[in-house]
Amino acid sequence: MANVVVVGAQWGDEGKGKIVDWLSERADVIARFQGGHNAGHTLVIDGKVYKLSLLPSGVVRGKMSVIGNGVVLDPWALLSEIERLGGQGVHVSPETLMIAENTPLILPVHGELDRARENQNSVAKIGTTGRGIGPAYEDKVGRRTVRVADLADEPTLDLRLDRLLTHHNALRAGLGLEAVDRAALKAALMEVAPKILPYAKPVWKVMHDARRAGKRILFEGAQGSLLDIDFGTYPFVTSSNTLAGMAATGTGLGPTAIDFVLGIVKAYTTRVGEGPFPSELFDEDGVRLGERGHEFGTVTGRKRRCGWFDAVLVRQTCATSGVSGIALTKLDVLDGFKTLKICVGYDLDGQRLDYLPTAANLQARVTPIYEEMEGWSESTAGARSWADLPGAAIKYVRRIEELIQCPVALLSTSPERDDTILVTDPFAD
Ligand code: GDP
Ligand code: IMO
Ligand code: MG
Repeated sequence: MANVVVVGAQWGDEGKGKIVDWLSERADVIARFQGGHNAGHTLVIDGKVYKLSLLPSGVVRGKMSVIGNGVVLDPWALLSEIERLGGQGVHVSPETLMIAENTPLILPVHGELDRARENQNSVAKIGTTGRGIGPAYEDKVGRRTVRVADLADEPTLDLRLDRLLTHHNALRAGLGLEAVDRAALKAALMEVAPKILPYAKPVWKVMHDARRAGKRILFEGAQGSLLDIDFGTYPFVTSSNTLAGMAATGTGLGPTAIDFVLGIVKAYTTRVGEGPFPSELFDEDGVRLGERGHEFGTVTGRKRRCGWFDAVLVRQTCATSGVSGIALTKLDVLDGFKTLKICVGYDLDGQRLDYLPTAANLQARVTPIYEEMEGWSESTAGARSWADLPGAAIKYVRRIEELIQCPVALLSTSPERDDTILVTDPFAD
């Protein structure tokens, strides 16, 4: 059986949630492997809208859902998301959700530190979601975090808190924040522990057994490849590896279990937060993309920056994630443009580049080289087969495939679950 990893191939919000929900009909297990509640994945099913942050998008179909150790987990955010979904008729219980015991927790100190840093005037803002993601990952690699399993044993929890707070109180003093109220934090953790622990499992083992039993596993990435901590537009990135390789270490299933990597690609480009964006538009075309695409963040409500499709970047992210095929989303947003532009290279002081350089000063200086294509006046919204697409739209899609050197496996033409065109089945053996 084939196992599939879904990753964002741009700066996030490519439509991963919709595609994961669509694919999860044929999956047995759906696993998140990185990120946290900085993610916002929107599903639309028969007009009903579901917004997921921490829960894998497979929960809506009642599939076995997994939060892997690569995620940073805010237990209170998780419980409130479970409750909110319950109100929409989606019931999440330990029967359908498991959390890796070795998952690090996001605590209130992390959110406070994240926001305090963003509000400092002395350094440039990253434009984070303020959810504590960065500080939580720092504590994970700093070997001083509280993990899910620690909630089961009070003496261990005490040791973890001592180590964590020694570090945080020193930092907080420097930022002018009060020392942490250790007793209150511990009490909050003891209170939340019995609500979280029933979900805690040795996920690596469950995944291994599922694989051996021939189950289909779908890995749901969050954020996008250009927000990757190593390969993204550093420091304007998130604090995890968002590339497909992370699916293995973020769940404990080895890389040989991955058969297909599906890159989710928006038919144009968007980005939330600060950082370089070579094909960004500041004119009415940009405004039109934002309005037609409803480009507002799911998590923070911030306006997303919009620009033309950047084939240079997507070719690069298809390489770094080893993408087997892409799902091209939001093609319908381009309906009615007279001409469309695609960035096919960068100009750096008269020299042509076919990739985004790593140095921040160069990233800020490259200017896009565009190729123009004819637009289409017909509507592609809701199209469910190639035959429903106008010739110019097909040409646009084919040109993208050529430029990024990767085939289109799926096409999405509206937010609705079933407005999806299947070209190649990622689950096919
Ligand atoms: P994710 O973070 O990658 O899951 O993406 P988001 O859910 O944050 O943002 C994508 C937005 O586009 C959501 O509001 C989706 O409902 C919507 N969407 C997804 N696919 C399509 C599509 O093909 N066409 C249109 N018009 N909207 C889409
Ligand atoms: P989904 O899964 C888009 C961006 C933030 C900020 C940077 C760092 O919905 O695609 P963080 O809070 O992670 O430390 O913020 O990353 N960012 C996202 N942008 N989609 C996301 O998730 C994002 N998650 C984080 O805007 O620029
Ligand atoms: Mg999103």
